[in-house]
Amino acid sequence: MTDRVPPDLQAQGITKRFGPLVALKDVNFRLRSGQFHALLGENGAGKSTLVKCIMGYYHPDEGQILLDQQHVTIRSPRDAQAFGIGMVYQQFTLISNMTVLENLVISRAKLNPIINWQQEEAHLIQFMEKMPFKVSLSARVSSLAAGEKQKVEILKQLALQNRILILDEPTSVLTPQEADEMLGHLRAMTLAQQLSVLIITHKLREVAAFADEVTVLRKGQFVGSGKVSELKVSQMAEMMVGSEITAKPKQRTPRSTSVPKLVLQDIRIKDDLGVEVVRGVHLTIHEGEIVGVAGVSGNGQRELVEVLGGQRPATAGTIRVQDHLYQPTRKKIVRHKMVCLPEEPLQNTCVGHMTVAENLAFRNFDSAPHAMGGWLISRPALRRSAYGLIERYNIKPPYPDTPIRSLSGGNVQRAVLARELSADVEILIVANPCFGLDFLAMEEIRQQIVAVRNRGTAVLLVSEDLDEILELADRTVVMFNGQLVYETTSPAADLAVIGRHMTGHMA
Ligand SMILES: Nc1ncnc2c1ncn2[C@@H]1O[C@H](COP(=O)(O)OP(=O)(O)OP(=O)(O)O)[C@@H](O)[C@H]1O
Ligand SMILES: [Mg+2]
Repeated sequence: MTDRVPPDLQAQGITKRFGPLVALKDVNFRLRSGQFHALLGENGAGKSTLVKCIMGYYHPDEGQILLDQQHVTIRSPRDAQAFGIGMVYQQFTLISNMTVLENLVISRAKLNPIINWQQEEAHLIQFMEKMPFKVSLSARVSSLAAGEKQKVEILKQLALQNRILILDEPTSVLTPQEADEMLGHLRAMTLAQQLSVLIITHKLREVAAFADEVTVLRKGQFVGSGKVSELKVSQMAEMMVGSEITAKPKQRTPRSTSVPKLVLQDIRIKDDLGVEVVRGVHLTIHEGEIVGVAGVSGNGQRELVEVLGGQRPATAGTIRVQDHLYQPTRKKIVRHKMVCLPEEPLQNTCVGHMTVAENLAFRNFDSAPHAMGGWLISRPALRRSAYGLIERYNIKPPYPDTPIRSLSGGNVQRAVLARELSADVEILIVANPCFGLDFLAMEEIRQQIVAVRNRGTAVLLVSEDLDEILELADRTVVMFNGQLVYETTSPAADLAVIGRHMTGHMA
């Protein structure tokens, strides 16, 4: 490791657009030499986009990057590396059937065509001796635990002589002990001026324990920064979610009844690795009520939606639908007039190469008037129904015969809603229904959700967008670490309190 100190990094006036979406708007950020800096923000705030602009994965539309006050051009991650900036990703990038040594050697960009393994090994042994944490060079990566693999990812960046280390949610795959150990080592290296660290995390506990400065983004804009020693955790949470409620609740008809339609009792769910990610959820949703589930993604929301949609079994608990015990199977879902709209509808609920008309008819292609006797499908009837839905839900372009995958995201979403909501719906489960949509499409889809609620449907709305929840929901619950930790009615909602519960800080 060389003795030079890490350079001072500045991003000035960064704007990044993806089509009509402005992911970053005139964002300023500074990572001083030897700092441990946390970048905070809700899902979709623009954190990953900002670091990808620094790394040269994305090219900002406006703005510049400065290193030690000098303007630099970073066109690719390889350029970034030449400037001593390295990044550790959320997913592992190691080759698992190779050893740690092999992984470290092949990661070097300017590798000689002939590798002198003895020399490389000697060099890396020397390097390892200077490192505060050790991993056996001869270990096969596939045999390492997640915490060890993360260490190798970091060692890889350090062996490449990088002095600025960017980590995008590095601890989400680690246990709290592994996370503390890793962050502690990085902290020590920043204190020794060997490294600057920029870390993206949702865990304010880690920020309070290890970082010395924070920068907060909200909806693509810089909202503030400051010293961790001078900020309370509740203030950070408040900066993330904002303090004034900008969303106006949608017009709605008052509810006259309080008939429970969907009742969840002590639902427990394990994820694909067998870890319990939903840990005893109790929730009742009534006729004509929208209940919003707020939370940082990854706190069990996705698994809960999957269970309700019949795509994953619950490990414990009961679900009652209109007072009947309910086991989510396709047949029961149809019988109970339950509709589940997952995220990314094009991948999850459409067949891309089939036409809009065909996709619109998935629910009822085998019943009259689309089919006679259950098998003879009438194409003219399909097209006639499609035209009706296209008009009513404003799907563009208005041609039933276009393949659905050629539609924009907002129009695919409209088509899926048209299909699912045109029939009689008792219970609607939706997750991030407006993700990635433009303002107009977003507005229309939210109107449709309120419209079904006004017709008496019970709606469970899971969303990463707090504004969306406060605009639509009659009641809001916060999901954190697999449990519903807080509940409020929308008129009484206090963003600061919701934000604190979302980040696990009730104090
Ligand atoms: N390649 C892309 N194409 C189009 N839109 C994108 C792309 N990458 C990001 N976005 C959009 O830019 C916005 C910011 O996304 P970004 O991934 O930076 O958020 P984030 O703060 O990292 O969120 P999270 O906490 O969920 O990781 C989002 O609305 C996202 O949908
Ligand atoms: Mg991100």
